[in-house]
Amino acid sequence: MKTGGLSIRVMRMRDLPMLVRIMEMAFTSKRLTAGEQLANLKRVYATAARSACFIAHAEGEPVGFVLTQKNDANWHAPTPSAHVRLLAVAKDFQGRGVGTRLLRMSLLALKKAGYSEASVNARLDNAKAIALYERVGFERDALKFITNL
Ligand SMILES: CC(C)(COP(=O)(O)OP(=O)(O)OC[C@H]1O[C@@H](n2cnc3c(N)ncnc32)[C@H](O)[C@@H]1OP(=O)(O)O)[C@@H](O)C(=O)NCCC(=O)NCCS
Repeated sequence: MKTGGLSIRVMRMRDLPMLVRIMEMAFTSKRLTAGEQLANLKRVYATAARSACFIAHAEGEPVGFVLTQKNDANWHAPTPSAHVRLLAVAKDFQGRGVGTRLLRMSLLALKKAGYSEASVNARLDNAKAIALYERVGFERDALKFITNL
């Protein structure tokens, strides 16, 4: 898909180093090295719902991606469920509808692939992500509890 200088296509294995670059341009907190991020992305991608993972480019530069997996946490559910594991858009390109488009395309592809439900996690302080998820139709469903060890 190509609109207004933005092109979105299905992600491939060889795109993974680009995802690390996008994450560096999207997230403010930096806890892992690029090598560690790549190793984690490889692990996640190994079980990805590949037809529903997309990468966005603007003027040839990678600017955003969505990475989706089969939801193994929901293994007991009667119908296949998917989980949006990572959605990221480079800071300079945020607020232009890139994240919304990536997420909508992913949800459509998941539906085509036979999934009947998708979930996504958001931190309570990530107002932008929460607003986006609610805009595309996600509803709040579960509470996650966390403690320091
Ligand atoms: C959360 C995130 C993916 C959102 O991506 P994004 O591309 O900025 O999202 P969108 O542009 O689609 O939507 C954001 C805003 O732009 C507005 N917008 C949507 N389409 C637009 C368009 N065509 N033109 C202008 N604005 C638009 C939306 O209404 C929305 O407004 P809001 O801020 O009032 O809610 C991005 O902020 C990000 O990468 N954050 C860091 C990583 C992260 O937290 N990821 C989620 C958890 S894994």
